[in-house]
Amino acid sequence: MASRPLHSLTAAVATLVVAIFIGTPAQAAGDPAAGEALAAACAACHGADGATGLDPTYPNLAGQNERYLLNQLVAIRDGGRNIPLMAGQLTGKSDEDLANLAAFYAAKPGKIRQAQGDDETLALGERIFRGGIAAKNVAACTACHSPSGKGNAAAGYPHIGGQPTGYTIAQLTAYREGERTTDENVGGMMRGVAHGLTDKEIAAVADYVQGLH
Ligand code: HEC
Ligand code: HEC
Repeated sequence: MASRPLHSLTAAVATLVVAIFIGTPAQAAGDPAAGEALAAACAACHGADGATGLDPTYPNLAGQNERYLLNQLVAIRDGGRNIPLMAGQLTGKSDEDLANLAAFYAAKPGKIRQAQGDDETLALGERIFRGGIAAKNVAACTACHSPSGKGNAAAGYPHIGGQPTGYTIAQLTAYREGERTTDENVGGMMRGVAHGLTDKEIAAVADYVQGLH
C-alpha cells in the first residue's frame, strides 16, 4: 500500500523532531496562579478562560500544552512571530512570567467545536489528517498531532483539535508561504508539511481539525 513508506517516513521524522526537542534545555514549569493575574490583560481578546475569544477566528489557548505555549510566547515577545494585534502585550515580561501564563492556560479545559464542511470536504480533510498526501510528501498530521488532534505535550507539539477553521487556515498558509517560521527549532517541520498543500486542501483539513476532540 502506498501509505506504507509514508508512515515510516513520518515516524522517522517524528523521532527526529523528538530528538531535537529533547536536545533543547529543560524549561521550568510555570505557576498557574501567578499566570492568572497576568492573564487579565489577555482576556479582552482570548476570553477569561482562554477559550471564548473576542473573534471566532482567534486561537484557543485553553487546553494548549504548556511547552508549545511557552515557545510561542517567547517568539511573540522577542519578534520571532509577528502578531500585530499583540504588539506591546508581552513587552517587559520575564521568561518566568511567560512560563506562568503558559501554565495558566494549559490547565484550562479546551474548547470543543464541530466541523462545518459537506461530506466531500470532510472526507478530504480526514484523508489528509490521517494519511497525509504521499504523492506530495505531505506527512500525516496524526504522526505529531495525535489521532485526536491533542498533540504531544511532552514534545511541545500543539493541540490543534477544536481550533477555529479560520485560525488554522491562516497558520497553514503562513507556514506554506514561509511567513511563519516559529518551527525553526524543529527543523522547519511545518513549513515542510504545508509546502505541498493547495488552498482547497488547507481549507478541508482545517475544517476537519476544528471538529476533532
Ligand atoms: C488585541 C487582541 C489580543 C490580545 C490583548 C492578546 N492577544 Fe494573543 N493573539 C491574538 C490573535 C489575533 C492571535 C492569533 C494571531 C495569528 O493569527 O497568528 C493571538 C495569538 C496568541 C498566541 C498563539 C496561539 C497559538 O496557538 O499559537 C498566544 C500564545 C497568545 N496569543 C497569548 C496571549 C497572551 C498571554 C496575552 C496577554 C498577555 C494575549 N495573547 C493578548 C490577539 C490578542
Ligand atoms: C513531524 C511532525 C508534524 C507533522 C507531521 C505535522 N505537524 Fe503541525 N506542527 C508540528 C509542530 C512541532 C508545530 C509547532 C511549530 C511551531 O512552533 O511553529 C506544529 C504546528 C501546527 C499548527 C499551528 C498550531 C497553532 O496553534 O498555531 C497547525 C495548525 C498544524 N501544525 C497543523 C498540522 C496539519 C494540518 C498537519 C498535517 C497536514 C500537520 N500539522 C503535520 C508538528 C507536525
